[in-house]
Amino acid sequence: HARAVQSGDDDGPAVIAHRGASGYAPENTLAAVDKAAELGFRWVENDVQRTRDGELVVLHDDNLRRTTDVEEVFPDRSPWKVKDFTAAEIARLDAGSWFGSRYAGARVPTLEQYLERVEHNHQKLLLELKNPHLYPGIEQQTLKVLANEGWLDRWHVADRLVVQSFSADSVRTVHELKPAVTTGVLGTPPVSDLPEYAEFADQINPSHGSLSMSYVSSVHAFTGPHGRPMEVFAWTVDDADTARRVAGYDVDGVISNRPDVVREAMDED
Ligand code: G3P
Ligand code: CA
Repeated sequence: HARAVQSGDDDGPAVIAHRGASGYAPENTLAAVDKAAELGFRWVENDVQRTRDGELVVLHDDNLRRTTDVEEVFPDRSPWKVKDFTAAEIARLDAGSWFGSRYAGARVPTLEQYLERVEHNHQKLLLELKNPHLYPGIEQQTLKVLANEGWLDRWHVADRLVVQSFSADSVRTVHELKPAVTTGVLGTPPVSDLPEYAEFADQINPSHGSLSMSYVSSVHAFTGPHGRPMEVFAWTVDDADTARRVAGYDVDGVISNRPDVVREAMDED
């Protein structure tokens, strides 16, 4: 079937650098975006959440402990939730040292900073609304930032942006607010739910462990809100055997911390 989203390189699945090329640089930092570009990958995935004072930032966990030095800088602020810190406080944190000393000083990017770097690198973005139940209105706010940064023009929405979430309600909200945007629901909903999802989601994006060839072909049989077959992006695939397995299922995208490993495995076929 015709693919709406392409890797740009060949006919195989798109390869998406998960949290940036996060096997090689600290996840969700600008360094991980640049690393993906350096390795030749156009698609990057990220996770968007909100600070106490309403700034959108790029971070995976709902707290800052694992990927920053927050416990040293703010020892009295347990449990160090993103939503309890201001943007200025988060901007002081080191989000690179935990990964390696050469990344010392990497920051938690704001969504604006992140979009500007992806644009600068001529890359494409798979944006995840992470934990949206914690951040009422984050769908509308994210769309506003995307619009302000020029990411909702026809050129971007045609081919350079997908907004996804584990929350189907959030994805539906994004679709209702901005129908032009390509959307994806994370997880593996039962096939019986796909007719409903096809009203607002262009993609169903499952963990590779819960994926089968018949599930992928079931998804492909539905037409998404933009009149194209629904697509499947599988995550998080970091080894050659799994990459070959899911490529054999005819997935449309493979999300990986080590996109070079995935690309090489798929090129061998
Ligand atoms: O993009 C898919 C994947 O990122 C979903 O899981 O926990 O890594 O955000 P997680
Ligand atoms: Ca994610």
